[in-house]
Amino acid sequence: MQAIRDATHRLDHVLFAGATHPHAGKLAEHLLRAMPWPAGGRVFYSDNGSTAVEVALKMAFQFWCHRNESHRTLFVGFENGYHGDTFGAMSVGRDPVFFGRFEPLLFRTLRVHLSTEALDVVLTRHRGDVAAVVLEPLVQGAGGMQMHSPDELRAIFEVTRKHRVLFVADEVMTGFGRTGSLWAFNQAGIVPNLVCLAKGITGGVLPLAATLVSPDVVGAFDTPDRSRTFFHGHSFTANPIACAAAVANWELLRSGRWQADVARIERFWESSVRPLDALPGVKDIRIRGLIAAIELDIPGGYLAAIGAALRRECLDRGVLLRPLGNVLYALPPLCTSDESLAVIADAMSHAVRSCRM
Ligand SMILES: Cc1ncc(COP(=O)(O)O)c(C=O)c1O
Repeated sequence: MQAIRDATHRLDHVLFAGATHPHAGKLAEHLLRAMPWPAGGRVFYSDNGSTAVEVALKMAFQFWCHRNESHRTLFVGFENGYHGDTFGAMSVGRDPVFFGRFEPLLFRTLRVHLSTEALDVVLTRHRGDVAAVVLEPLVQGAGGMQMHSPDELRAIFEVTRKHRVLFVADEVMTGFGRTGSLWAFNQAGIVPNLVCLAKGITGGVLPLAATLVSPDVVGAFDTPDRSRTFFHGHSFTANPIACAAAVANWELLRSGRWQADVARIERFWESSVRPLDALPGVKDIRIRGLIAAIELDIPGGYLAAIGAALRRECLDRGVLLRPLGNVLYALPPLCTSDESLAVIADAMSHAVRSCRM
C-alpha cells in the first residue's frame, strides 16, 4: 500500500509505447532473473491473465512467421485447460461449458487429453503445423483444480522438444509460490519458451500481467526491420502504479519466508482437509502448496447445482469461497494465519458434510 501511495505521487500513468519508467524496468529485471534462461529474455506487459495468454499466442505465431514457417497456425491445449475469456484464450481452452456457445467464432486448435501419448500422436499427425503447446503447469485451475505430477509435466515438455514446438507455461494461477515453488514449472526442471503471469504479480491488489519471453524467441524479433515488430499494446500496459505494487510485492515475497508459509499451509490442509477423503460422497482430495480441493462424487461438473449450496454453507460460517461446481477449493494468500486457516477448513468440512449425497 505504501508503494502504491508513493507511486501515485510520482507518475500515475504513461502510455507504454516509446516511453518507459523505473517500476516497469525493475519488475522486468526481477522477473527475468527468476527465469531459467540465459540473459536476453524480455517481458511484455498487459493487464490480465487472458491478455498475457493472447500475447503469448500472437508472439508464438509471429516467431514462426519470422522463421519462414507461417503455416504453423495451430495451437495445442489440454482437456480441463483454462486460459481466459478472450478469443485466443477461449480457442486454446475450448471448455465446452464455458465456451461451447462461441464455438462458431473460435479459431482452430487441438485439444488433447493430458498425456504424453495423446500429445505425441497429435504432434506427429500435425507435424510442422503447430506453433505452440499451452499448459497450466501442475494444476489446471478453473477446470476443477486437476493436478498432474512434476514427472508428467516434464514428460509433456519433452514431447514438445521432440517435435520442435514452443511450450507456453500459463502460470497465471500457479505463479508466485502457490504450488510450493516460485513457478510450478520449476518442480519439473523444465525451460518453457514463454511464461504467462498475472493474479499474484501485484499480490492480487491491482490489475497487471506479463508475458515472459525466452531469449530464443526474442532473437526472432531482434532486428531493425520495423515490419517485424510485435505490434500489441493496451491503454494501461505496464501502468506505473500497478508495476510499483508488483515490485513491492516481489520484494516482500523474496525477502520473506514464503516457502515456510507454503509448507505451513500445505501441512495444515493435509491434516484438516485430507481426512475428509474418508467421507462417503467425497470422490477425491487434491492438495498442492496453498491449494486444497475437495471433489464431490456428484454429476454435473461445473454446472452442478451443489456449487451454490456449498458456497452458501461456507458463507454462513463467514467464509467466501467459490466452488467450481462439485469441486470445493480454497487457495488462501501466503499471509493467512493459522486461525483463519482453521475457520476456512471448518467451513469446508461443514459444507461437504451437509451437502454431499
Ligand atoms: C490459468 C489461467 N490462465 C488465464 C486466466 C485468465 O486470467 P484473467 O481472469 O486475469 O483474464 C486464468 C483466470 O482464472 C487462469 O486461471
